[in-house]
Amino acid sequence: MVMPKSERDLARNGDGGIYAHVVGWGMAVPDMILTNHDLEAIVETSDEWIRTRTGITERRIASERESTASLGLRAAQRALDIADVLPTEIDLIIVATSTPENIFPSAASLIQHRLGAVKAGAFDLSAACSGFVYGVEMANQAIRSGSITTAVVIGSETMSRILDWQDRSTCILFGDGAGAVVLRASNTPGGVLSAVLRSDGSGADMLSIPTVGSEDLSNSYFLASEHRMFKMYMNGSEVFKFATRVIGESILEALHKAGLTLNDVSLVVPHQANARIIQSAARALKLDVDRFVSNLDRYGNTSAASIPIALCEAIEQGRIKENDNLVFVGFGGGLTWAAMVLQWGVPPAIEGFAGSRIKRQRRRASYFLARWGMRLQRWGRTINRFTNRLLGRSEQKD
Ligand code: UT7
Repeated sequence: MVMPKSERDLARNGDGGIYAHVVGWGMAVPDMILTNHDLEAIVETSDEWIRTRTGITERRIASERESTASLGLRAAQRALDIADVLPTEIDLIIVATSTPENIFPSAASLIQHRLGAVKAGAFDLSAACSGFVYGVEMANQAIRSGSITTAVVIGSETMSRILDWQDRSTCILFGDGAGAVVLRASNTPGGVLSAVLRSDGSGADMLSIPTVGSEDLSNSYFLASEHRMFKMYMNGSEVFKFATRVIGESILEALHKAGLTLNDVSLVVPHQANARIIQSAARALKLDVDRFVSNLDRYGNTSAASIPIALCEAIEQGRIKENDNLVFVGFGGGLTWAAMVLQWGVPPAIEGFAGSRIKRQRRRASYFLARWGMRLQRWGRTINRFTNRLLGRSEQKD
């Protein structure tokens, strides 16, 4: 009997197949910093409690002029610069988020337009803090099937807008920010080697943000007791137990699928929820905690954005080399969890590289035209309506 090759064998041996490589990365965080000491003035808490129970010291908070789409756009623009890809080359934009600006249009569509990515499909993906890994896997599958060549996957959140600032058990944990990667088809084996995506909706009430669309809002179990519309609710200790269980399991499963072992892993980029969760996962896997990227001291939990932000910082710090095997692992509302193994296929971050000059200028022109094109279209529609009203014509007749 011919044994099926593992996904990793197929990727490594080069079977004339198509592989999805990360070729660009970028992050964007708001300037405004909210420290633990600032929080002491808002809820009954202390810097000492937050630091020792979570590892967080400060987080970024979006200003009124910033949004999920604007942060995601900035991260995507940086990733496109590194990849030296034009907006017109993008086939697909996925934004993983729990804090979209609208139910629709998606944040992905807003970003698609502002980039001038006129040939791209765009949608938002809801898988809470696992969303970025889900998004990369969706893009990977689309690339490997040959249906697309270039995808931008973004994790972007404005968590500060859905926090209950009177609930000290959640408001101290989260922050705002965005991270993005560009994935491209290549015949060079490597890139995304395997992924494990999982969900257990029986834990839906452990972590939620109720919104419109419930069967019966007044009776919905989401709205019982402490669950409030558009506000985050979390049963922290239950989520903590769930997270420490699934991280190790899903990493081992993803490695097995890729035909690798823990010894082959250079770096784990986990969702940044709590330093104690990362330490516990490292202990369970008997891996040195230094092999886990951790930056939640400065950003807190940025949900779907945490993995790409941590990835960008690891690259910037020179912690990732060509051919390194990386693991992404996310967990959160749904409940959902996801792990992915990637073989890093591009040279380490090229300091200050922002693509060829001509392509860079074309990208800037595309952003400029998209911004002004949208304004002109809106002004045009307003003038049209005004003229129609003056002429006494109904808009429908036109
Ligand atoms: O990204 C999505 C996934 N999310 C997570 O993975 C989060 C997982 N959970 C956690 O990280 C932790 O459960 C928390 C950080 C949320 C809470 O830490 P904990 O050690 O599980 O604390 P706890 O909920 O068991 O609360 C212990 C005590 C309680 O007081 P009593 O009842 O023992 O008197 C809380 O009221 O700590 C109290 N407490 C606080 N005290 C000061 C809870 N929040 C705070 C606070 N400041 N901010």
